[in-house]
Amino acid sequence: MSHISQTSTEQVTVPTLGRWKREGRRIVMVTAYDAAMARIADPVVDVILVGDSVANVCLGFDNTLPVSMAMMEHHLEAVVRTRPRALVIVDMPFLSYHLGVAETVRNAGGFLQRGAAAVKLEGGANRVEIIRAVVGAEIPVMGHLGLTPQSVNVMGGFKVQGRSRDDATRLLDDALRLQDAGCFALLLEGIPAELAARATELLTIPTIGIGAGVGCSGQVLVFHDVLGLIQGHRAKFVRSYANGFDVLQGALSNWAADVRSGTFPAAEESYGLSEAVADSIAKWEPAK
Ligand code: KIV
Repeated sequence: MSHISQTSTEQVTVPTLGRWKREGRRIVMVTAYDAAMARIADPVVDVILVGDSVANVCLGFDNTLPVSMAMMEHHLEAVVRTRPRALVIVDMPFLSYHLGVAETVRNAGGFLQRGAAAVKLEGGANRVEIIRAVVGAEIPVMGHLGLTPQSVNVMGGFKVQGRSRDDATRLLDDALRLQDAGCFALLLEGIPAELAARATELLTIPTIGIGAGVGCSGQVLVFHDVLGLIQGHRAKFVRSYANGFDVLQGALSNWAADVRSGTFPAAEESYGLSEAVADSIAKWEPAK
């Protein structure tokens, strides 16, 4: 399949990403929330994130806060049923890692029992204790710094973070603490490119950027953004490679027109009877 830009056919694992950072090989990550999306993404990307952005993208919520463990498990299971070769990381939803170490480890471990290879959770120095506990339970953790969508109410909206010197140095310090706590990678979202590049330089673990410039070890985007499936406001960092919304709506509209004109389904799209049964059915009348 010549249209597929793929870097590897082997199973991607947590250590693979560390090796790729050392080799200077860029990492490609995309979100996927069900089996159909995972099958499209898997031959192309290195990492599939079952993101809590499923809330906005698929479930119609305004932010990620309403997503529950049960919802994330449902979407994770759909993705892992396709047995991807890409590394599957799942987002720990709001309140699944805020209520104590034991509950956090149980929730994270439940994701691994359902087939995830690693979990991602948001926050800096305030998460070090639980990250140590989760990593101590043999559960790989990706950290998430910068614009952390579960903190939307604290941030007062979805705003670029780390612009002042104090905020920028706090982020660098948090990044080093998360690495020290055992994170195998960090997602950097919505921060200035220079800051993400500096974090990537200071860390030995890989960074994956979204709205964080080109100086990260890899990039992630939301599946629907790459394919142009969402209409309306588009963040500055989104580059869409298709106008999926119009393409899909156009196809649906063509089908609807064929139904309305009676040209769908055609004979070759229909099942038939033998001549004898067809004759008999044509003559059949209900008993009086
Ligand atoms: O849930 C999500 O989509 C994310 C993005 C930052 C990729 O975490």
